[in-house]
Amino acid sequence: MYYLKYRPKTISEIDNSRVKDFVKKILSAADMPHALLFVGQKGTGKTSTARIFAKAVNCLKNKYAGEGNGLEPCNVCDNCLAIDNSSFTDVIEMDAASNRGIEEVKNLIKETAFLPMAGRYRVFIIDEAHMITPDGFNALLKTLEEPPKSAIFILATTNPEKLPKTIISRCIKVNFGKANHSDIETMLKRIADSEKIKIDQSILSLIAAHSDDSFRDAAKIFEEIIIQKIATPEGVEKFIGTLGRNDLLKTIEEGDEKRSFSWIAEFSGTGGDFKILIESMLAVLHDLLLIKKGVYEDKKLTTKLTSKEISRLIKLLLEAYKMQKNTPVESLPLEIAITEFYNDKS
Ligand SMILES: Nc1ncnc2c1ncn2[C@@H]1O[C@H](COP(=O)(O)OP(=O)(O)O)[C@@H](O)[C@H]1O
Ligand SMILES: [Mg+2]
Ligand SMILES: [Zn+2]
Repeated sequence: MYYLKYRPKTISEIDNSRVKDFVKKILSAADMPHALLFVGQKGTGKTSTARIFAKAVNCLKNKYAGEGNGLEPCNVCDNCLAIDNSSFTDVIEMDAASNRGIEEVKNLIKETAFLPMAGRYRVFIIDEAHMITPDGFNALLKTLEEPPKSAIFILATTNPEKLPKTIISRCIKVNFGKANHSDIETMLKRIADSEKIKIDQSILSLIAAHSDDSFRDAAKIFEEIIIQKIATPEGVEKFIGTLGRNDLLKTIEEGDEKRSFSWIAEFSGTGGDFKILIESMLAVLHDLLLIKKGVYEDKKLTTKLTSKEISRLIKLLLEAYKMQKNTPVESLPLEIAITEFYNDKS
């Protein structure tokens, strides 16, 4: 999988430029912070950056080891390799989505009492930190108030509003935000170059525009396109469902049920991704709904659908979207949604 193969392993490979600069700044500061909070939506590099950070401070061949001024982890010393294999005793990762209670947090805190064994710092990476229970947060807070000199906590979260303010105020916050499109294109270019794939810039921008602002999703779409040997921007548009969503919505708007169904059959036949198709249809319908409600104006986007029809269609597509995970026939959830929509109309 490209998104695993090309997970950034050095600071310079973090394609999110703002984060890259911030991490460099923290690493070159005189005082090492003991608690960091990585905030951002999924697939923006929080876990990857936490591991890079853990390697940088424990590497045996950079500034921290007294060799030169470089901050980058070398990725070849025993410590770097062990961290990459998740076998380094001084880097402890906890997924708070599945270990969220007081016991788990207490066990983690016990670990902070030990000095590093092979490294310089013990790094505690807590993923999905907002899932920790109130008891757990309380226990953690005490440790964050007086962290051992050799401990660094990295809390990663998609939902900072669910973290107690007392925890947030103990941490240095790094905002990952969303992945911006030009950074995503840089990442895709990096993958294409390593894989020796020649690809149109316009295709890279198309992928970036439909990546849900996530590096991970962009890498996944890119890989699917390569596997399916889709090489033209038109082919990619069709695959992603952009051309498509407008065409399909148009047939629905015209009330042409038969054409809606043959459109879906063709989309399916050319390997289109229904999840992405439904997502982009929902995005358009959402815009249409807001325009109808007078929230904003967009003269380019017009529709014959009434706001009642739009909201009905949104409801049906949301149901279809949920079913998409478990359907044995890819096109089925969308077909059912459209059938029901026409049933209501007649
Ligand atoms: N800043 C980035 N630069 C390049 N690729 C990235 C970046 N962030 C994420 N990725 C890609 O997305 C994948 C998931 O990243 P991850 O660090 O697990 O994100 P998060 O923890 O924020 O969900 C990585 O394996 C990598 O392929
Ligand atoms: Mg993560
Ligand atoms: Zn190293």
